Amino acid sequence: MSASKPLRSLQWFAGRDELALQNRSALRSMGIDVDFYSGKPVIGIANSWSELNNCNLNLRELAAAVKRGVIAAGGLPLEFPTISLGEEFMKPSAMLYRNLMSMDVEETLRSNPIDGVVLLCNCDKTTPAQLMGAASIDLPTIQLNGGPRSVGNWRGQPVGSGTDMWRYWDDVRSGKMSQEQWNELEQCIACGVGACNVMGTASTMTALSEALGLMLPGVSSIGASDARRVAAAEATGRRIVEMVHEDLRISKILTPAAFDNAIRTLMALGGSTNAVVHLVAIAGRRNIDLTLDQFHELAQSTPFLVNCSPSGTFLMDAFHAAGGVPAVLGELLPLLHAECLTVTGQTLGEIAAGKNSFNRDVIKAYDAPILPNGSLSFLTGNLAPRGAVIKTSATTPRLLQHRGPAIVFRNYEDMLARIDDPELPVTADSVLVLQNAGPKGVPGFPEWGMIPVPQKLLEQGVTDIVRISDSRMSGTSFGTVVLHVAPESAAGGPLALVSDGDEIELNVAGRALNLLVPEVELDKRRAGWSPPAIEHRRGYPRLYIDHVLQADEGCDFDFLRPRSDDDLPMVPPIVGRS
Ligand code: FES
Repeated sequence: MSASKPLRSLQWFAGRDELALQNRSALRSMGIDVDFYSGKPVIGIANSWSELNNCNLNLRELAAAVKRGVIAAGGLPLEFPTISLGEEFMKPSAMLYRNLMSMDVEETLRSNPIDGVVLLCNCDKTTPAQLMGAASIDLPTIQLNGGPRSVGNWRGQPVGSGTDMWRYWDDVRSGKMSQEQWNELEQCIACGVGACNVMGTASTMTALSEALGLMLPGVSSIGASDARRVAAAEATGRRIVEMVHEDLRISKILTPAAFDNAIRTLMALGGSTNAVVHLVAIAGRRNIDLTLDQFHELAQSTPFLVNCSPSGTFLMDAFHAAGGVPAVLGELLPLLHAECLTVTGQTLGEIAAGKNSFNRDVIKAYDAPILPNGSLSFLTGNLAPRGAVIKTSATTPRLLQHRGPAIVFRNYEDMLARIDDPELPVTADSVLVLQNAGPKGVPGFPEWGMIPVPQKLLEQGVTDIVRISDSRMSGTSFGTVVLHVAPESAAGGPLALVSDGDEIELNVAGRALNLLVPEVELDKRRAGWSPPAIEHRRGYPRLYIDHVLQADEGCDFDFLRPRSDDDLPMVPPIVGRS
């Protein structure tokens, strides 16, 4: 097969001058037979393996399989490391570094002799970070994840990552579970490497990568330790070489219609609220604006189909066995833009045609959904002029229309210090408000939005309460939790003006989130408000605070988003002396 246009890597390796010699000799220094590989596509393998990220720990094995596939298809694989974002260890949040990782990927692709790239991801932020970076460069691109980890059992019950931990932690706090049982749970809840095995952010984002057309069909939900994942890695390696020959670049796949398909898939999954921010950011790198109104409109016309934790019952092994993403796409096909191209060279419609759920308990039929629409809801009002999101599918239905007095925590430390105070004047009708936990406020937009139900309420048998913040929550979390309030309080949003006792109205059906305080009083409070002091004077956190956009704009950096389509083409390499 011959390339339809000259390979990009030839700018480094073709010719007989001293620069080409220098570049070829660099390959020879690694023991690569340059004569054999001459003129073959160079495939970069962006590997986010790290021992600081247990979720991505099988990516080395998968990279070896990708290389086999690349070589078998006639390409030269060159693996490179990127920073890795491990949700468990990174504090205050891996989200602080998503944009940094995207820059790492973008600049490595821009500056090196790479014709096509395989992106190896798994833990939550690694998937969008890689797509943001690759979308900014526009090479032939395919993504492969490490897969969900195997399911642990505790006392005969399967335990899902994160979600069951939160549930049992509430039992510990209310005295229903002993410390000894809690210690036992620790031995059982994570029995292998891989991503969280619920439909949390990691599994949502990799499913959306597949729905966008950027992963081979059916691959995203294969278990981390399943041999079929290794075979999929080899197939991914073979396919990227073909994609280079076909000049099938990411810009041909990441179209506005493809994002519509991804949003509908998110709604059918009952997936993570974090995916909203990530999809907006990825689309933004292609100068495609996704608005919260667009999310709302698509949410209202897409059935919620997937009965997976935390919105439902089952774990990712059951989702895969039921047919995974292709089955969901098959059910959704009447709503999808079937013409969208995928990395296979086929359209999404061709992939989805004839695919259905193998288990209707796990993936419901299009005409017999769990909910007819609205697994996520998008709110506005005087408390969130630029929007907020709530995962309706994981809430307590009776709280979706609620009015109650606010209990305000000025920041995360304040919340931790007082949440279990027996003197906290909280009732089941209260609305807990957390301020200064947004993108700029921390900084990094951490997952602090699932404010714990106060211990004194747990002891009364109350398991859910309305909570509102400018923060995010883990994709494994649940509850009547309003998130991503924009503008955030640290940027002067109305959330900063809430005081104890203020009445707040939540009306999800009416899309309303309102602070029921007279405007004249709010004006008075606004006049007396000043932004929190910024502790970070230098370095990356300071860059983040100065340039991060708000949640409704995807929390990308302002300087990374193209201002127009003219900013989209990749700046060509200037091949010369370094
Ligand atoms: Fe990495 Fe959940 S913590 S996928």
